[in-house]
Amino acid sequence: MDDHVKSISDLRKIAKQKLNADAYQYLESGADDDLTKEINESDFQKIKIRARRLVDVRHIDLSTKFLGKEFPLPFFMAPVGFQKVFHEEGEIASAQAAAERSIPFALSTVSNYSIGDLASQTKAELWFQLYPTSNPELAKKLILKAEKAQAKVLILTADVPVLGNRKTHRKSLENLQLFGDLSLGNFAGEEEGHTIHNPGITWEYVKWLRANTSMKIFIKGIVTKEDAAFCLQHNVDGIIVSNHGGRQLESLRSTIASLSEVCKEIDKAIPVLMDGGIRRGTDIFKALALGADGVCLGRAFIYGLASNGKAGVLKSIDILKEELIRCMQLAGVASLKDLNASNIEVEF
Ligand SMILES: Cc1cc2nc3c(=O)[nH]c(=O)nc-3n(C[C@H](O)[C@H](O)[C@H](O)COP(=O)(O)O)c2cc1C
Repeated sequence: MDDHVKSISDLRKIAKQKLNADAYQYLESGADDDLTKEINESDFQKIKIRARRLVDVRHIDLSTKFLGKEFPLPFFMAPVGFQKVFHEEGEIASAQAAAERSIPFALSTVSNYSIGDLASQTKAELWFQLYPTSNPELAKKLILKAEKAQAKVLILTADVPVLGNRKTHRKSLENLQLFGDLSLGNFAGEEEGHTIHNPGITWEYVKWLRANTSMKIFIKGIVTKEDAAFCLQHNVDGIIVSNHGGRQLESLRSTIASLSEVCKEIDKAIPVLMDGGIRRGTDIFKALALGADGVCLGRAFIYGLASNGKAGVLKSIDILKEELIRCMQLAGVASLKDLNASNIEVEF
């Protein structure tokens, strides 16, 4: 990939040039007027870094321990549906890149390739994201497929009881469907017409999941301390603070503004990840300083996938890694273990 590609924003420009208008619209769209999607990115500017001086920063340690395992980088791949819309190799290319950098890859329920395809064609550590279909038999089948593929974590996405108001997104998906891009790998052999949304689910569903899987259970979409407390009560194994990239409820706070109260409530009892608006190494630094154990990349890696398949995803990971290293060197923090709230000043 060209040397002049130096930032996630450069990859975004290439993605825009390469993708057809409907695919780009599907990627970029938020709910209503895109306000939450936009503040997910811009609220990072409300956090300033407090740099320390005269610290030995020759060696920067980005490793992070998570669920008893050490990972070389503090970021993971968020579930993003229909990745063939962005590149013909879709989720396979993204997961291969994740494997090459030893970072886990979360596969969406609505992926083009199935979880079995990913297990047989990549070496990635797989996590499986579940949309709680109202058909428990179907949910069980999806869980079994994920277990067979040795997925380590089951992510329950809790912020989609109904689909957000994404008018342009719906139109663009309808248009994309006309070209046959939207096969659902995990539903192969299943009857058509199942909905993936379930407005009836409650915390009882988490108990049901516990009884039906041995995978670790993460809940994605938590944005309040009250729900963080419920996660602890229900013995959830991890949380992803997320507002679905601003695609669900409009007028939510940004995820970076929601993170602190969740981390305080959890108080290190279980891992807390966050996603939403991560575009720079400094964004990752700020999220970890606020207490996150790691972040998930969403659009950031998809811009890479759209611009150049697996090489593009690798580029997006490497850009963020280099930016994070430089940020830590300039801020005088040699290891993520030393990063904490004293390294930032928050203005919201
Ligand atoms: C095109 C697209 C598709 C997505 N598909 C899913 C999905 O299938 N399941 C899910 O839990 N989240 C999905 N998300 C949300 C992401 O997992 C993540 O929360 C979000 O992208 C983070 O925001 P950011 O991309 O602005 O950083 C999707 C996001 C985008 C942009």
